[in-house]
Amino acid sequence: MIPAQTTNTLNKQPFGKTADGQEVYVYTLRNSSGVQVKITNFGGRITSILAPDKNGKFDDVVLGFESLDGYLAKPASSAYFGAVIGRYANRLAHGTFTLDGKTYHIPTNDGPNTLHGGTQGFDSKVWDAREVSTPSGPALELHYLSPDGQEGFPGNLNATVRYSLDSKNGLRIDYSATTDKDTVLNLTNHSYFNLEGAGSETILNEYIMLGADQYTPVDGTLIPTGKIDSVAGTPLDFRKPTVIGSRINDNFEQLKLAKGYDHNFVLSHPGDLTAVAALVVDPTSGRALEVHTTQPGIQFYTGNFLNGEVHGIGGVYRYRSALCLETQHFPNSPNQSNFPTTVLHPGETFHSTTIYRFLISHGSFAVAQ
Ligand code: GLA
Repeated sequence: MIPAQTTNTLNKQPFGKTADGQEVYVYTLRNSSGVQVKITNFGGRITSILAPDKNGKFDDVVLGFESLDGYLAKPASSAYFGAVIGRYANRLAHGTFTLDGKTYHIPTNDGPNTLHGGTQGFDSKVWDAREVSTPSGPALELHYLSPDGQEGFPGNLNATVRYSLDSKNGLRIDYSATTDKDTVLNLTNHSYFNLEGAGSETILNEYIMLGADQYTPVDGTLIPTGKIDSVAGTPLDFRKPTVIGSRINDNFEQLKLAKGYDHNFVLSHPGDLTAVAALVVDPTSGRALEVHTTQPGIQFYTGNFLNGEVHGIGGVYRYRSALCLETQHFPNSPNQSNFPTTVLHPGETFHSTTIYRFLISHGSFAVAQ
């Protein structure tokens, strides 16, 4: 049991050195209920979240590592554990897009496509970190300047990601960015959650509810076809809380193509931070996670590429032993004019907010503190 304290705190510890010798740190945010979030300025990654179960026992509910070396080693280095993803989260078809009549090429790293910003995305950059004060106490603000032409993207992009923790166990992530040339932008966080505790065997017995009537079906390389389909009558209908494993192996083409759930859901209340975008409940521990976002979409990914080769906090990370809820713009939007735009112009400031709130479920879906 972690002793309670009256106000939030933030402290800083060494975390390791990158291959090119840069010192990186891990920052620990704690609130008065004892919830503790660790973030490193290497890739802006959330490395640990301690949240209470129904008996007040704290466990780590995200996959991660005790030090930088865990993130740098293969194959963990390509799984984006806990990272800020940019400049363009999710996939860009054939690593290319056209903007203002000019065609740009981004390195491909996922079959024929670009995934999560190319081979050197924001997840592997060292961010500047500073402490800022908020009404609920200190918060961590990370900043990264992505130079014009980096990974082929146009414009110097100034990106800021602020992590704060409120007294109701909500981890709030505020993203903002400006550019000096027209560019495309899609920022998210790639935390892998297991509410039973990192290293637990599976997330297939957890329940999920998604606030989405529609999703963007994909082709065999996980690029959206451009259609926006209803979830009704499909195993992607999570409008009511449903056990994740109950339909994951159904003979449904979209599940076969993605090897499970790895889809962008179109949120029914885009831009509304009060709407519930996702709710996950673990009946064993009684932990629940509620996700709120101003983004129009959420990628629900069931850890289909985890295969037991990585050993991190809590144990071995097996197939489908964690899930991601990546709040985002839709994949491949720069090539899909019917999707909400991801273009950022000079003079504009991009803003988005996502809140991951940790709750307790008392045996029903009426989740409360
Ligand atoms: C995203 C993708 C998945 C997978 C993971 C990383 O969530 O949608 O297909 O590539 O990243 O393993």
